[in-house]
Amino acid sequence: MQIYLDYSATTPTRPEAIAAMQAVLTQQWGNPSSLHEWGQRAATVVEQARMQVAPLINAPDPESIIFTSGGTEANNLAIMGVAHLYAKPQHIIISNVEHSAVAEPARLLELWGWQVTRLGVDAKGRVNPLDLKAALQDNTVLVSVIYGQSEVGTLQPIEELGNIARSAGVLFHTDAVQVAGRLPVNVKNMTVDLLSMSSHKIYGPQGAGALYVRPGVDLLPLLNGGGQERRLRSGTQAVPILAGFGVAAELAVQEMPTETVRLMKLRDRLFAQLRDIPGLIPTGDCTHRLPHHVSFCLEYADGEKLSGKTLVRQMNLAGIGISAGAACHSGKLSPSPVLLAMGYPENAALGAIRMTLGRDTTEADVDWVAMVLRQILERLAPELSLAKR
Ligand SMILES: Cc1ncc(COP(=O)(O)O)c(C=O)c1O
Repeated sequence: MQIYLDYSATTPTRPEAIAAMQAVLTQQWGNPSSLHEWGQRAATVVEQARMQVAPLINAPDPESIIFTSGGTEANNLAIMGVAHLYAKPQHIIISNVEHSAVAEPARLLELWGWQVTRLGVDAKGRVNPLDLKAALQDNTVLVSVIYGQSEVGTLQPIEELGNIARSAGVLFHTDAVQVAGRLPVNVKNMTVDLLSMSSHKIYGPQGAGALYVRPGVDLLPLLNGGGQERRLRSGTQAVPILAGFGVAAELAVQEMPTETVRLMKLRDRLFAQLRDIPGLIPTGDCTHRLPHHVSFCLEYADGEKLSGKTLVRQMNLAGIGISAGAACHSGKLSPSPVLLAMGYPENAALGAIRMTLGRDTTEADVDWVAMVLRQILERLAPELSLAKR
């Protein structure tokens, strides 16, 4: 039996999206910028995809959706696109639990002389809106805070943060890659200026994403050329990939009311089944949480001996795909910066694991995974299981 529980890393492309992509590859392969019939057929595909993606975040105007190659590019376009508007270094604010696709552009700006404030988080991984208020300066030009944290599942108080930025006249960006398509997002009622999405987290193909750019918000492009995507992202659009993204987005919106509730039940079931294992500590916020996200750290893990990576390997041997919060750089295991930011000690931050559920996950899968994980922990870390008896 094989069970994939890494839907936050990527999702299998759904058959409806594959069918749409196949049709475009064979019948609508023109260049959408060409004026002839072939080009216009492809342009129709791109515009249809834009109209399908806009409802993911309830964007009233599909023109506010700028297609990119994925969430990483959308985040880079938001941050560097704002930064490039300024001749001299200014100040931006991010949180210290951002995905690297925000943290790295911010680090680059710092190298270029910009001031970067990284807001701290509490033990559940949440930013305190008052900290944002206090961090704003006269030269702050952008605030960027992740909506749903990919490693620990915590949802941020995005509306409050957006309101604070707006009151100060500062642009607000959120990386909603883990949220858009999993929870309702409504930019009409939010004070968000820029919002990143990704296709492959919602059963669309890899290699597509989008940045919502609120009408009236100015950005400079990262890619210059033929002026596609309202001059914000030059380059011939990946028409087949966007067709797949569009179909996946449309179906995500349709299925969200039932699927989100189903996933939350499975998520809570998995948490409940593992609750009694001492040392296996749930991470993130249990209330403000991504619906499909289960994460733990091993509070008593002995670093290299029982790291998240070891558990991932063991689970993989049992046919179960999960992920570790700790990244492995050049062979050396490093603790999860997100857990460190949340105040966990280094050995716990080495023992982070994440199980993210999706369309194919069943109750039986969850029960099986819980049993296998328990057995592995009993074998590898008897002190964890001994303590519970
Ligand atoms: C929160 C978050 N932001 C950005 C990204 C990057 O998205 P993409 O893989 O589409 O570049 C990811 C992917 O894991 C993510 O989880």
